[in-house]
Amino acid sequence: MYNSIIKGLGKYVPERIVTNHELTEYMDTSDEWIRERTGIEQRHWVQEGDGNTTASMGYKAAKQAIERAGLTPEDIDFIVFATLSPDYFFPGSGVLLQDMLGVPDIGALDVRNQCSGFIYALNVADKFIKTGTYKNILVVGSEVHSEGLDLSTRGRAVSVIFGDGAGAVVLSRTDDRNKGILAGNLHSQGKYALELAVKDPGSRMPVKKVVERVNTEKDYIDYYPYMNGNFVFKNAVVRFEEAIMEALNDAGLSKEDLDMFIPHQANLRISQFIQKRMGLRDDQVWNNIQKYGNTTAASIPIALTEAWESGAIKEGDLVVLAAFGSGFTWGASLIRW
Ligand code: ACO
Repeated sequence: MYNSIIKGLGKYVPERIVTNHELTEYMDTSDEWIRERTGIEQRHWVQEGDGNTTASMGYKAAKQAIERAGLTPEDIDFIVFATLSPDYFFPGSGVLLQDMLGVPDIGALDVRNQCSGFIYALNVADKFIKTGTYKNILVVGSEVHSEGLDLSTRGRAVSVIFGDGAGAVVLSRTDDRNKGILAGNLHSQGKYALELAVKDPGSRMPVKKVVERVNTEKDYIDYYPYMNGNFVFKNAVVRFEEAIMEALNDAGLSKEDLDMFIPHQANLRISQFIQKRMGLRDDQVWNNIQKYGNTTAASIPIALTEAWESGAIKEGDLVVLAAFGSGFTWGASLIRW
């Protein structure tokens, strides 16, 4: 058995910045409400003509991660691509990234686990490395949310939260058993699937029926995200902590050993709540939701890249990544840097 280390990190966000003030032009909301409830001050959204898609942003982040790992695209053996906003209904964005990288016929797996997508993707990649199947795996999280949001007042509870962007890591094989991913866990609770969901179109509501509904009923169509915000919040704060503690226990470590917590950026209040429960200092929790909003599968790799770029993560540090989101799904990864 081998271990897997994060050898390179990259991120990309579109140039266009959308402030809370700009959102007040489209819906009945306020900068004060958004900052107070979520901590968000601005987010990046794609704009027409900038060429950004889920796969192409993933490519930009991946390119940077590969370069920083000191590798070339030809060194990558496999791709795991997490997104809830793929370029097409099918095929997945992973194969588009494979083509953009211009590499031979390596496998590309898409992961559909929403805000926990990157944790799921990383755990899957870790197993492929640990068992010796692959040496270098590209793990990508990328989202274009802005094209699928209801920007009227009806959609405000969801639309103000989400941002676009991408993050990527190269996960590589090491013989050093004390370094890299020490533990990881994945969970789900499908009975709450519809508490945070985009229902249409899908096999239960095929495209032709959605079109009929749009043309006849003109009512609220479920192709916009629905979120039972309060309920999600209450479950998130419990599950984040459970996943972190499970990873620490599995590695025979305790919360006092932690140097850095990189939460999925769902809501600043959620991160602050967990920080308090875990007894962590401000400099031990990486928050950047203020600048990017919630970028779902991209939020952890963007935050991790930023934390690493700023020097907040050093060799030997114990870093925990954790996420909770639609499904419900949640999980954590514990890494010795
Ligand atoms: N601007 C102004 N007012 C608003 C807005 C807005 N953008 N959105 C909602 N409101 C109003 C509501 O209409 C409501 O008004 P009322 O009291 O007159 O009915 C009031 O504000 C309170 O609404 P709540 O929904 O109860 O607000 P809450 O404090 O719960 O905050 C939020 C909402 C920010 C969504 C919060 O519940 C949250 O962050 N939940 C968790 C999100 C999360 O973790 N998601 C998981 C990851 S996402 C994924 O997996 C895709």
